Amino acid sequence: MPKVSHQISIPGLELNRASKIPAYKQVYGLLRTAILDHRLQPGQRLPSSRLLAESMGVSRNIILLAYEQLSLEGFIAGATGNGSFVSGTLPDTKPKLPKDTVSPEEKNIASNVTFQYPVSDSLMQRESEAATIKPFQNPEPAMDHFPYRTWAKCAYRIFRNLEFESLNYHDAKGYLPLRTVIADYLRVNRAIRCGPEQIVITTGTQQALNLAAAMLLKNNDRFWIEDPGYINARAVFEHAGGKTCPIPVHADGMDVDHAMQKHPNATLCYITPSHQFPAGGTLSITKRLKLLEWAAKKKMWIIEDDYDSEFQYGSNPVPALQGLDPHKRVIYMGTFSKVLFPGLRIGYIILPDKEMADAFGYAKAFADRQNGITDQLILHEFIHGDHLTIHIRRMRQLYKKRQEILLELIQRLGEELLQADKQSGGMHVLAWLPKGMNDQEVTDMLRLGGVYVAPLSRYTLKYKQPPALILGYTAFNEKLLAQGVRTMVRMISEQASLLS
Ligand SMILES: Cc1ncc(COP(=O)(O)O)c(C=O)c1O
Repeated sequence: MPKVSHQISIPGLELNRASKIPAYKQVYGLLRTAILDHRLQPGQRLPSSRLLAESMGVSRNIILLAYEQLSLEGFIAGATGNGSFVSGTLPDTKPKLPKDTVSPEEKNIASNVTFQYPVSDSLMQRESEAATIKPFQNPEPAMDHFPYRTWAKCAYRIFRNLEFESLNYHDAKGYLPLRTVIADYLRVNRAIRCGPEQIVITTGTQQALNLAAAMLLKNNDRFWIEDPGYINARAVFEHAGGKTCPIPVHADGMDVDHAMQKHPNATLCYITPSHQFPAGGTLSITKRLKLLEWAAKKKMWIIEDDYDSEFQYGSNPVPALQGLDPHKRVIYMGTFSKVLFPGLRIGYIILPDKEMADAFGYAKAFADRQNGITDQLILHEFIHGDHLTIHIRRMRQLYKKRQEILLELIQRLGEELLQADKQSGGMHVLAWLPKGMNDQEVTDMLRLGGVYVAPLSRYTLKYKQPPALILGYTAFNEKLLAQGVRTMVRMISEQASLLS
């Protein structure tokens, strides 16, 4: 039988009301420390959430959230709130090193690394999350619909026929037959003008951005970037010494006039013209032509990130900007992270001509020689056998349906708390919160309930937006979407009633 503590006799459970740390995080931290310090013993029953809330002068909700997090991390067990007790076996919080075997310098080894990379959570936090993708993690493909058998057959064919040449070093620009099928695919599906000689295969858009920054940006060069926009692109350009020029975004995409007037000397523009990330919307044809003309006149590079435009749900898919450019100023980036799976780590850059592609090929060789050859061979087999087109066509129908389901759920269950609009494409929607709510705080709170969203504010710089959540929907079936929406609405409504 667990020992019962009727009284709240846990010393040191004092909230710091002046602190900016949310109350539930403080309660969580205080209890965690009490458990690790053995002020709370293994097996000891915790006070009920009601009692503890009263004694600390906070709402019961705050205690419940703290208990939920402690339970997720294995510090406490039992039903949340009433009946929770300290776990018998505590999670390993510190690696056990033999005493005195680590010198002070070794202890502080990270201090020898002088540079910190500006890497966002969305790039780094994946390992622990990959095993369980939670609604509304974005942007995750529907892995339950991935054609595993077909992929395995392609892989089998490749490995059965491997020859010495396949195992050697290869062209840094990528396996030529793969570049050829990609060029064929893009010409038909994205109206892109290119041949295989213009393509460099990369380990995804992230590497493509790094190569572009290394090749095209000099210290203090200015670059236009959408605001709100893709933080991982901005981080790369800033890391290369670029100076950020945030450009506001409207329903018809980046405000090109504003950019030309306010930042006429920029040498590079990063843009998501087919489906603005994260606000949605498509760059209008007038703006496209204006941007291309400006780039030609000012010798500015345009980086077109076409990250999810295979998934357009209307009858007239928007073609890529690259296909409209007679002046050779557009550098196009595509990825298989969305259409196949992100762990594949294959993407590509299309350069304006062969000479530039060769130069980028050198940069790629300098970075990591080449992409792994067997994955390139398998992907080639997959595309060549027409499986990519079939898979994309299926996923387009599935994702369209999943978006409709999500929007219907939000409309039916969202009360006055959430409002989301239809998107003509892509893998996420924006759900607007009531005015005055803090979308970062809501995001943190929802995470404790197992709902993973991203706050729009994280992607804004200068041009603040009303509070909103970015909801990925493509990886989740109807049941998971409904569970996610219910939990989200319940938690937001509790938060809203605390605020009122
Ligand atoms: C705007 C944008 N571009 C590109 C990517 C894909 O990056 P990668 O190809 O490195 O997986 C993402 C992924 O989340 C994205 O949001």
